[in-house]
Amino acid sequence: MVTSLKVGLAGLGTVGASVVRLLDRQRAAFEARGGRPIEIAAFSVRSAAKERGIDLKRFRFVPDPVALAGDPGIDVFVELMGGEGDPAKRAVEVALTNGKTVVTANKALLARHGVELARLAERHQVALNFEAAVAGAIPIVKALRESLIGNAVSRVYGILNGTCNYILTRMEQERLSFAECLKEAQRLGYAEADPSFDVDGHDTAQKLAILASLAFGTRVDPDAVYVEGIASITPEDLAAADELGYRIKLLGVAVATATGIEQRVHPTMVPLGSPIAQVMGATNAVTVDADAARETTLVGLGAGGDATASAVVSDLCDIARGACAPPFGRPAARLVPTVKAPMQRHEGGYYIRMLAVDRPGTAATIATRLAEQQISLESIVQRHRDAPPLGGQDPRQAAAPVPVILITYATTEDAVRRAIDAVVADGVIVGRPQLIRIEKT
Ligand SMILES: NC(=O)c1ccc[n+]([C@@H]2O[C@H](COP(=O)([O-])OP(=O)(O)OC[C@H]3O[C@@H](n4cnc5c(N)ncnc54)[C@H](OP(=O)(O)O)[C@@H]3O)[C@@H](O)[C@H]2O)c1
Repeated sequence: MVTSLKVGLAGLGTVGASVVRLLDRQRAAFEARGGRPIEIAAFSVRSAAKERGIDLKRFRFVPDPVALAGDPGIDVFVELMGGEGDPAKRAVEVALTNGKTVVTANKALLARHGVELARLAERHQVALNFEAAVAGAIPIVKALRESLIGNAVSRVYGILNGTCNYILTRMEQERLSFAECLKEAQRLGYAEADPSFDVDGHDTAQKLAILASLAFGTRVDPDAVYVEGIASITPEDLAAADELGYRIKLLGVAVATATGIEQRVHPTMVPLGSPIAQVMGATNAVTVDADAARETTLVGLGAGGDATASAVVSDLCDIARGACAPPFGRPAARLVPTVKAPMQRHEGGYYIRMLAVDRPGTAATIATRLAEQQISLESIVQRHRDAPPLGGQDPRQAAAPVPVILITYATTEDAVRRAIDAVVADGVIVGRPQLIRIEKT
């Protein structure tokens, strides 16, 4: 006799409520595809009285999510509460220890405790699936864990935060400041009231740490990720990038280098013609460079209730079929410690925008400082001030600094930082220059 897969669902917010609706809507198809019905048996939320637009009377309510995780009436525990600590962590541990498979969308939990949870899942021979934790509907976890398993991956990179991509898109298209676009993103519900986790790059970093583990067989380590956010990007940078044949994206990049795995999140200039440069608005994209498959780019919805529920339900269907892959693509004991490649050794091209003091010798001083660090320039753009008004040059404007934009050939982070420090010490520029790394795609 075919028995249904009984689900205990903790969290009925944006994602959880969409999971219930999707399971209702596609009930027959999931049963046909998974080979058995998927049925919600019980749920847990903080506030049972809250109106959620779904009929919850048909499910048993268990106030404590940790008790739900160990409930004998469920086969699978679906954790959609969020947060790297308890009750999410404790509940997932209890479920796994009780031999229940777990599905979670919780990137924070996996980035911090992924390896120990994977060990626990293996010890109890149950699955721990988390397709929804990275890039919403995009099936990148499965792609790395299963579909591309025959490859040696050399790099995985992507746009993993829709809020940041939305802000950069609006800034570029409408020549607006970061602050104006952030406000607009908050008004439209793309950004949280406290947006720092997104715009400072930490959300991307958690997702990248998970992808790096899947791609390179390393232990997930969010502290190994170098992180910079997008708040320093200006409309001038976006316009200059466009003129020079680039677009600026907040990328998460994990790449195998001679000194270890480089994991970094920062605003990045990507060639205008590359697939990743075409990804606009709140859309996400991930590219995997691998030896046999070469370059694979997946593009899609990275967040939102339905998109994320799509990934959660895909994990549930796998479980209904009896699939049980190691969570990070290989037994946890074979995940190797992350050797963090030092950021100073990062190699690549750089965009440098500086405000040069307008006096003889400035250009020569900058050129000398770059040459001392063996940095060669691919291009230099010097902005001209507007033509003087009729009646002669305004003396204040005559003294105003002049924007200069440099694009370097491949060099090291260390060399660029040393050259900039020297130029600043020489007093030929005003303030600190803007520095944006260029990624070859
Ligand atoms: N939203 C997205 O687009 C998205 C995309 C990808 C991944 N994710 C991940 O999915 C997870 C859920 O996100 P979400 O946006 O759906 O969050 P959310 O809207 O804030 O919903 C959280 C749910 O968890 C419940 N909850 C919180 N603490 C609880 C507790 N102690 N006991 C019982 N229930 C508790 C809440 O109950 P009440 O409703 O009663 O408050 C709520 O139903 C997070 O890990 C998030 O990172 C979200």
